Amino acid sequence: MAYEVLARKWRPQVFEDVIGQDHVTRTLINAFKMDRLAHAYLFSGPRGVGKTSVARILAKAMNCKGGKPGIPCNRCHSCVEITQGSSVDVQEIDGASNRGIDEIRELRENIRYMPSSSPFRIYIIDEVHMLTMQAFNALLKTLEEPPTHVKFIFATTEAHKVPVTILSRCQKFDFKRIPLQMIIKQIEKVTREEGIEISKSGLSLIAGEADGSMRDAQSLLDQVISYTGLKVEDRHIIEILGIIDRRLIFEASQAVLDGSVKKCVQIVEQIYSFGYDLKEFYRALMDQFRNLLVTLAAPDEVLLDIIDNESDELKRQALQAGSEKLQHILSLLIAREENLRMTSHPRLVLEIIMVKLCRLGEYLSFEQLFQKLESLEKKLSSTALVEAPMAAGRLSDPGTGWQPKSAPDLPSVDSSGGINKKDWERFLEFLTSKNPAMVHVIKDWPLLHTSGDLIEIGKGGTQFTSAYLDEPERFQKLTELCRDFFKRDVQIKITPQRDHDMGGNKPPQAKPKHSNLPPPIQDVLDIFQGELKGEIAVKPNQGENTRRDE
Ligand SMILES: Nc1ncnc2c1ncn2[C@@H]1O[C@H](COP(=O)(O)OP(=O)(O)OP(=O)(O)O)[C@@H](O)[C@H]1O
Ligand SMILES: [Mg+2]
Ligand SMILES: [Zn+2]
Repeated sequence: MAYEVLARKWRPQVFEDVIGQDHVTRTLINAFKMDRLAHAYLFSGPRGVGKTSVARILAKAMNCKGGKPGIPCNRCHSCVEITQGSSVDVQEIDGASNRGIDEIRELRENIRYMPSSSPFRIYIIDEVHMLTMQAFNALLKTLEEPPTHVKFIFATTEAHKVPVTILSRCQKFDFKRIPLQMIIKQIEKVTREEGIEISKSGLSLIAGEADGSMRDAQSLLDQVISYTGLKVEDRHIIEILGIIDRRLIFEASQAVLDGSVKKCVQIVEQIYSFGYDLKEFYRALMDQFRNLLVTLAAPDEVLLDIIDNESDELKRQALQAGSEKLQHILSLLIAREENLRMTSHPRLVLEIIMVKLCRLGEYLSFEQLFQKLESLEKKLSSTALVEAPMAAGRLSDPGTGWQPKSAPDLPSVDSSGGINKKDWERFLEFLTSKNPAMVHVIKDWPLLHTSGDLIEIGKGGTQFTSAYLDEPERFQKLTELCRDFFKRDVQIKITPQRDHDMGGNKPPQAKPKHSNLPPPIQDVLDIFQGELKGEIAVKPNQGENTRRDE
């Protein structure tokens, strides 16, 4: 007997045998039980998930002379003929090669005749989306008022190409991609009954390649055993199907998470020298990081197309990475996919992307730094307008040598008829009407000294507001307003302060400062809540504000 390929040999013959499409089969069985069959059905869904199989079972169940409602006997004349494809009452038409108006006209001629020996004339039109517009129009008339002895079953992988006028006259069923675990289970059954020796991981490899299609899984299995015979080893599968070893994918994701550029380059080298498709590897890597993210976000296994023995390792890596990092890695992978697709140097591009992924941790810090800066900036503008400065200002001009200096409580006011503290306060009041934001920033800055036309004020405010007047325009503005107000050629001098108790309340989490640190460094540490290591290292998002001294 000629060899029958597994996919055909294992075609489901009753609804019960159809895997992963319960929502379809249950509804159909119920329709039989309640005697409420539609006159036209449309089955849509990806390749190899059971559309044609279900169409044939449905046809058999409609015309079966034995059996129970919705359960074809598969023994009667009609059932056997339909299985063999020789039934005169059940016609399978390939929409791709019979797509014109003439074929549909012929069909319309034929449906007038009564079925020869069964209750129904049934037309199964596969790939129905391939019909021409004219053919669809001709079909529409028939669908509107079909003779009671006629049933239509349409199947398509591209339902969106079927006109709505047709869709709305059919009962529509969406077939789903079959979950990995179900495919594994089914091909395990097939191999067991066919006497094929294969490991669990081998089955997983094949099922993984099938991408939700049962037919693909069975065809791949065929392909493998035609090479190895009934004893299949994992390495054969990897070799024949060009599947990238799962371990390599796990090694790759681990290397990325460890930030090991060296390891990543080695893996790319390995992939390349094995002759694997680099784009295929890239796709697998994306799947891997997607699975890692899903492991964290929704540990519900249903969402995960993974193999049993992988879930522990997946969890471990996912926890190591954390969801933020995984999201960034995935975004980068998605963003760069195009680069790899378009390039004529895929290996180089892959290496570059892998290196970028490894360095993502470093880039992340920057991104977080920017976010931090942004939020501080926002805080600053709202502080300036709404609240009094929160903290003592300590951001000094980097050029100024730092000398601890305690500011006097009261300004030393020039006795020679210069501007005194009261004058300054009056000026601040005046400033309120001119520039409220400026007042909010500088109102607590100490007036240090006045003499003649010179006004010296100390920097205050928060780390950020203390830099407020470093902006030449603002400084100029203040000077102008001062001259306006005092009607003299006032010179303003801003002196950096280093006293903690000046100019406002302490920030709530402020830690005692190390007295030997130069102010710019201290400020940077304060702002980013960092810690000082051998060189200045910045650690964002760290609640603890610790500092180790060298
Ligand atoms: N849901 C399923 N349960 C069990 N076996 C299935 C299922 N879907 C597909 N198969 C297997 O795959 C083979 C092909 O399935 P079928 O022809 O029904 O797919 P299809 O959805 O019509 O695909 P296509 O869109 O490519 O025509 C079947 O003979 C069977 O061996
Ligand atoms: Mg089909
Ligand atoms: Zn029958």
